[in-house]
Amino acid sequence: MSNLQAIKITDRVYWVGAIDWALRDFHGYHTSKGSTYNAYLILGEEPILVDTVKGPFVSEMIERIKSVIPVEKIQYIISNHAEMDHSSGLPEMIQLASPKKIFTSQAGIQALRDHFHQLPDILCKVANGETLTLGNTHLKFIETKMLHWPESMFTYFADEEVLFSQDAFGMHLATQEIFAEHNDPAVLYREAGTYFANILLPYSPLVLQLFKNIEPLKLNIRLIAPVHGPIWRKAEDIQNIFSWWKKLAEQKIYPKVVIAYDTMWQSTAKMAIAIADGVIQEPGITPLVMPLSSNERSSVAFELLEAGAFLLGSPTLNQQTLPSVADLICYLKGLKRKNLFGQCFGSYGWGAESITLLKEEMQKMSITLIDEPIKARYVPTVDVLSSCTDLGKKVARLIKTKI
Ligand code: FEO
Repeated sequence: MSNLQAIKITDRVYWVGAIDWALRDFHGYHTSKGSTYNAYLILGEEPILVDTVKGPFVSEMIERIKSVIPVEKIQYIISNHAEMDHSSGLPEMIQLASPKKIFTSQAGIQALRDHFHQLPDILCKVANGETLTLGNTHLKFIETKMLHWPESMFTYFADEEVLFSQDAFGMHLATQEIFAEHNDPAVLYREAGTYFANILLPYSPLVLQLFKNIEPLKLNIRLIAPVHGPIWRKAEDIQNIFSWWKKLAEQKIYPKVVIAYDTMWQSTAKMAIAIADGVIQEPGITPLVMPLSSNERSSVAFELLEAGAFLLGSPTLNQQTLPSVADLICYLKGLKRKNLFGQCFGSYGWGAESITLLKEEMQKMSITLIDEPIKARYVPTVDVLSSCTDLGKKVARLIKTKI
């Protein structure tokens, strides 16, 4: 006998999602606090399910729905986003509920067909700005193309001023406190930022455009219901998450220097610490040393959100960088953080290929390189460490002139 319950979030909307306490890897993004897959039930003359959950969690969603209405009462499903963490429960829901229609964007129809191949002919396109009345429920759809998939869209439930924002304004955080204000603000800040850094950052220009598109609509938004993490319902919190997203999407220069490295016999580590020592000599600029042996790539991505420079170090191993450093470069290249200064550094024995590789990769990442890379043969001398400190000072001074 089950007793998983839906959670009422407005008079007519229930959270019927699932909590994934165990999730630690979201295709390369380290989700240290798990996640939720939020689905929502809108009650009315014709009940509507907004998004579904990841396949293995369908039974959890169904239990929660059943705590409010029988599943077969659902008349419609809205698919705001076709990524599998929200859609892989869809085929089973179609079988159980036999909805009359599934509403999605034009690209959503194709995406759902490409994922599931044999869906019944009930997919129905909704256009950007389209309004729809289903019984006593009034909806508006807003296309959010490439935020972060081509088919992504928002659904606005006008009767209760709820914005179902799919991934936008969400975070990977497993919590039973469904409302944001009941969670630790420091955790919300960290996880919402990490989500932006690891999922949305490459689409920053589109994020800024999104706000330009939705502001003229003058929607009253009483509650933001994303598909991951808590729901924002305090006016102040809604304003803050909007402002923060805008600020992050601008990718400004911040007074922080991120120094990431891996090391073989501590030589590159000593160089990293010497660089940090130079940075700290410039008041107001903070160094953050991130050895890759103890920092996930997604944490580095988060820290770079509010940084002004990125210094990257690796010794040479078999004419390459250390694998952890190559991994980080591959990941960060895709995230496309703009407006960073930087340089590379590292030790070597008989060839300094890692330095050449790092320099090339940092140029490809559009990092503005300061001076020349610093390399140390085997173990850094006092002079090499002094050069590292000077580099740290120089980078810090440069950031000060740009903020
Ligand atoms: Fe939560 Fe883009 O899927």
